[in-house]
Amino acid sequence: MRELQALEGAHPELVTPDSPTQRVGGKPREGFVKVAHSSPMLSLDNALNEGELIEFDRRVRELLKDQPYRYTIELKMDGLSMAAHYRDGLFEQAITRGDGQVGEDVTQNARTIRSLPLRTAAQMPRYEVRGEVIMTRRAFEHLNAEQEARDLPRFANPRNAAAGGLRALDMAIAAARKLDYYAYFLFVDGAPAFDSHWESLDTLARLGFKVNSHRAICNGVEELLDQYRKWEAGRDGLPYEIDGLVAKVDSVAQQQALGWTAKAPRWAIALKFPARQEQTVVENVGVQVGRTGALTPVAFLKPVLVGGVTVSRATLHNEDEIARLGLQIGDTVLIERSGDVIPKVVRVVAEGAERRPFQMPAECPVCKGHIIRHPGEAKYHCVNTSCPARLKESILHFSARPVMNIDGMGDVLADQLVDRGLVSSIADLYSLTLEQLTSLERMGQKSAEKVLANIANSKANPLPRLIAGLGIAFVGERTAQILADSFPSMDALMSASEDALQRADEVGPKVSKSIRAFFDEERNQELIRRLREAGLQFTYEPKRKDGGALAGKTFVITGTLPTLSREEAKAKIEDAGGKATDSVSKKTDYLVAGEKAGSKLDKAQKLGIAVLSEAQLLELLGG
Ligand code: IVH
Repeated sequence: MRELQALEGAHPELVTPDSPTQRVGGKPREGFVKVAHSSPMLSLDNALNEGELIEFDRRVRELLKDQPYRYTIELKMDGLSMAAHYRDGLFEQAITRGDGQVGEDVTQNARTIRSLPLRTAAQMPRYEVRGEVIMTRRAFEHLNAEQEARDLPRFANPRNAAAGGLRALDMAIAAARKLDYYAYFLFVDGAPAFDSHWESLDTLARLGFKVNSHRAICNGVEELLDQYRKWEAGRDGLPYEIDGLVAKVDSVAQQQALGWTAKAPRWAIALKFPARQEQTVVENVGVQVGRTGALTPVAFLKPVLVGGVTVSRATLHNEDEIARLGLQIGDTVLIERSGDVIPKVVRVVAEGAERRPFQMPAECPVCKGHIIRHPGEAKYHCVNTSCPARLKESILHFSARPVMNIDGMGDVLADQLVDRGLVSSIADLYSLTLEQLTSLERMGQKSAEKVLANIANSKANPLPRLIAGLGIAFVGERTAQILADSFPSMDALMSASEDALQRADEVGPKVSKSIRAFFDEERNQELIRRLREAGLQFTYEPKRKDGGALAGKTFVITGTLPTLSREEAKAKIEDAGGKATDSVSKKTDYLVAGEKAGSKLDKAQKLGIAVLSEAQLLELLGG
């Protein structure tokens, strides 16, 4: 490596993109560019037990009208899917799944994955590989040991750690995660390269990709069931986590005959394993305070390995749940972990010799404020709206990606902002200064500038995101969207009566009451006033048609399209509920570019907006 680095240093013109020196280092990325997939990256339907698997097979047989067929069965590795594009044998671009249509360009980080070949001997001029980015148990345990040594929180599971690594802005973080890539699709022009899926897998392996060797051909459902039972028993012996198996009809012609639903193919199914369970002792019970002030009792457990991941706490939900379980401190319990869901206590297995009951504290464990339990509610709430625990959680919720999307606002920063008294309301985020940020620990000039820019950019988020960010009880992203569609300004929403609110889709008495209570609170009116002053988006143009394929998406068309006139393309977009505008801005979701696209294309690329061809637009429109 040293010798190569020296040679390349002397002859930079000889550095090729597939050189091993290009796998690490590099400058931190500014953000990720969005890229449309060659064909949608769909998810899979699940079979949660043997009955559902038999049902799946019955449907396949029926739809294939008794033609013979066979399945390829693969392990379902618990990571995140990624498409890797190759041109003339060289790795060119990697894209995360994203929303299935459009993902993020993670090429730089993908280069740090040693099992992703940078050069292959493929004959095809262009091809695409799809597969799973994972972290082995070993790499994961190693990472968590390092986190602990540096007094940082542990990662919940290998998948989260892998996702964080692949999307890290700093390549060095991605490299340090020691990610791995297993390929399971080989595509040319967005479609499978061979008629047999098995043949694609063999070809991938021959090209130098890691392809999981635990794969098999199954003739009939009985053989699928055998594999399911075998791997459910054998999964702990694997060096990585699997959460089930994937069965795919092997013939691509038959796959096409079976087709897809909106979400998943009809020719494949995920056979999910039941949740993992283990026994351990409840060493103590504590209380966590969430964003809405809800107090959640948490069991602190004697650490136990559950399917290869150490679990040391589990949620107990509320007092009633503890009573239902009959749980006391010192008891031995059965706990369960499924996917990335927080582990939960299933039941008490044995009472502890010196067991003692848990007592809900009389005051908030964080701010010592009053706590109350509203009639009909299971949880206690801290009533102090400026309780630091609530505030930290509110900042994290407000900044989350699907909400106001303030990159860089994580636990450590939120803690410091609240503890130092720099932020005592979400609105304070918009008056933070560079000096304040750089005065914090682990915050250099560059990162501080970036965070400030991200905060400033978040002002452009549309009203539904802002509504979701306020943290009104029972108002998540979906409800916020519905509210903005019915009340297209903050003022309209703030002054709506409970009756008027309930006229919006899906808003019932509970939600409308909570919204009214939120806006009637003086503190919250002050918050809204300050957010308005800061210049956030307080009005909204509702999407034209509910439920259209392009609902809520904004398009700009530029250049000459191969078949459609601009008017036709615009009409199609609007018919599907999308919006077509003339100029490219941060609010643009897609640029449809034809021949002779000029400055708009440049601008879109600068802003990281997804660029579509006419064919890709038509695909988004449903073919
Ligand atoms: S096929 C249209 N094969 O499971 C088919 N997926 O629940 C899409 N996964 O998003 C996927 N191992 O992240 C396929 N051998 C495998 C897989 C696999 C893991 C993941 C993948 C996918 C999810 C679907």
